[in-house]
Amino acid sequence: MPYLGKHAQEKLEKWGHVYGDVFSCYFGQNLVVVLNNYQAIKEAFDDDLYAARAQPYIFEEHFHGKGLTYAEGELWRVHRKFAMLQLRNFGMGKHSLQAPILREINEMADYLRKIEGKPTNAIKGLLTHHLSNVICSFAFGHRFPQNDAEFRNIVGMIEECFSLGSHDSLITLFPILRFVPFKSLGGNYKKFAKNFESLMSFAKKLVDNHEKSKEDSPTWEEEEPKDYIDAFLKQARNDHKEGKHDTTFEMDQLLTSIVNLFIGGTETTSTTLRWALIYMIENPEVQEKVFEEIKLVVGTARDVTLEDKAKLPFTEATILEIQRCGNIATLGGSTMHKTAGDAYLRGYFIPKGTYVAPNFYAVHVDERAWPNARVFDPKRFLNADSHIRRPEAFIPFSIGKKACPGESLAVMELFLFFSNIIQKFQVKAPPGKKISSANYTTGLTRAPINTDICYVTRKNYCNVTICEEKEDM
Ligand code: HEM
Repeated sequence: MPYLGKHAQEKLEKWGHVYGDVFSCYFGQNLVVVLNNYQAIKEAFDDDLYAARAQPYIFEEHFHGKGLTYAEGELWRVHRKFAMLQLRNFGMGKHSLQAPILREINEMADYLRKIEGKPTNAIKGLLTHHLSNVICSFAFGHRFPQNDAEFRNIVGMIEECFSLGSHDSLITLFPILRFVPFKSLGGNYKKFAKNFESLMSFAKKLVDNHEKSKEDSPTWEEEEPKDYIDAFLKQARNDHKEGKHDTTFEMDQLLTSIVNLFIGGTETTSTTLRWALIYMIENPEVQEKVFEEIKLVVGTARDVTLEDKAKLPFTEATILEIQRCGNIATLGGSTMHKTAGDAYLRGYFIPKGTYVAPNFYAVHVDERAWPNARVFDPKRFLNADSHIRRPEAFIPFSIGKKACPGESLAVMELFLFFSNIIQKFQVKAPPGKKISSANYTTGLTRAPINTDICYVTRKNYCNVTICEEKEDM
């Protein structure tokens, strides 16, 4: 613990300069092989032997190896394939999702406009709420209004809950400490268990609503499923009818998968967008260049849409650079792998059950792939013709068998949220206050400290509704 410090991936990156790109160490009692560069991660993660997940103690105890993120073997293969197929069917990565995403963005923008440029730290709650709504509406068939206190509470639990499940947290390193009656140990453990139960009850409520609507509709079995939960329940019913007693389409698997998708689809994208704001405040010339590009191509009288993306290369390059520098994926609960059998990597023997840590931070600051890696410079993602270039060492969503299944949704959300925020607002530090990307915490994600920011409505921004009202006058 004392060796790893507050930001384990940074410390492991430094150790790589001494011990090489692949080295091992112990996290508590667990042998961990650290992969500090792109080639090593690619070599390992393309192989099925590395597709098991290392589970922090708390997660193992509560998830019981079910769901998507912590399942292994056949259970994981079947349900990952099913989830990806269904999410794509219901719009993931497709243009049909654009209108609901823009609706969330505009509701958030309306809130920020009302604050009229005064300092506010509301963005964390707003982003998390509206991004949760995207996944909840298309995958789980329900969206929640901004003032829904229960939903806000559930969303707020995610970060709190999962910073405890990090592989370098005390409870994970030494599970016995959960019995110590200190608030920061046993107390936090109890809180995790309580939050976890609330998340599962939230998922159960979503499923109950679906089951209730089926009772009200006697023809539901002939109808096309409307969302992921519907499709899952239908598959469960079919398996039951066909007498498949060993079916894995059962309630705990469904509830855990909902929780995994909900968490995966919320905290990650929201944290990346908070980094976006910090980098835009730190680099005002980049912010203005993004705005100028949007103003030239789209104007300010309508929202930026996916159809505009190909004509906004600097905006896209800026988002990629934000992801490279923000490095939100930590060694937290859902990125560390485990070997499913004995393996060899670059001549090293890695026994079955060894934890394998992809250090995405080290990959993204590796000077061999990224000259002047510590400098924020979107131009590194543009070629001489100002077209996007993506070096292979850019892997914020990981690579290989367990790579993020939500990548296409996240890419869409990042583009629409970021471009529309910059089109509508100039983001600034409050007068006299310095905002720096050096202030961050490492938990479930590597996240900037939530701080007051001013959102000044762009003078020449005029949304469609206001324009129409003016024309009427
Ligand atoms: C900027 C946004 C996001 C980033 C940077 C991100 C990154 C990652 C990373 C690094 C992993 C670990 C992959 C590995 O183990 O090799 C992962 C896994 C996962 N992500 Fe994402 N993610 C994002 C958004 C999403 C979204 C929107 C969803 C939901 C639709 C999602 C759902 C998941 C799930 C379920 C897993 C576990 C996959 C498995 O174990 O098979 N993520 N993500």
